[in-house]
Amino acid sequence: MKQIIVVSLAVGLVTGLIGYNATAAGEADAARMPALAEMPGGYRDWPVIAVAHEEGKLNDIRAILGNDVAMKAFRAGAGTYPDGTIIARLAWDYHPLEESRQAFGAPQSFVAGSPKNGVQFMIKDAKKYASTGGWGYVEFDNGKPSATAMPEACFACHSIVKNRDFVFSQYAP
Ligand code: HEC
Repeated sequence: MKQIIVVSLAVGLVTGLIGYNATAAGEADAARMPALAEMPGGYRDWPVIAVAHEEGKLNDIRAILGNDVAMKAFRAGAGTYPDGTIIARLAWDYHPLEESRQAFGAPQSFVAGSPKNGVQFMIKDAKKYASTGGWGYVEFDNGKPSATAMPEACFACHSIVKNRDFVFSQYAP
């Protein structure tokens, strides 16, 4: 009997510890977990919100696209975005078009070259991502969620536009 009690106490303790560790690890993982495991289907065909060109190290040309929920909010100019909003940021090498040099006699036209700097998404779910302003952030590199681009860093920089619900881009008319 004594043995059984000792064993069950030990089992209880171990289970408790494992349970505790699993919860702690689970929370840490949730913060690090990519907001999406896969890129949303059909995102490449979403409407254009805006375009942008990054200089310096990033040196790319980019398009900001939105799903239906996003487009409705952007067109309304509400400045806040409901749950279900997904915004995609695609980027390509800022590439001089060789044929254009021939046509103009000097470098003139810069176009989208190879994909560059990953594909990024912001996903609105006020409850799920409460700790990062209601947005989940994820970057895909070669089609896989990035192991190094952490949501904390995304959120920190996007906090600059907290008054626009953490979204830099505005709907380009
Ligand atoms: C150092 C600042 C900075 C960091 C870090 C950053 N962003 Fe951004 N992000 C911007 C700026 C500025 C824009 C608007 C201009 C542009 O598209 O380049 C932008 C645009 C976006 C957009 C289009 C919507 C919008 O806000 O305009 C998405 C989606 C996005 N970023 C996702 C991410 C994700 C995901 C990460 C992290 C992996 C991230 N960003 C990290 C500055 C940042």
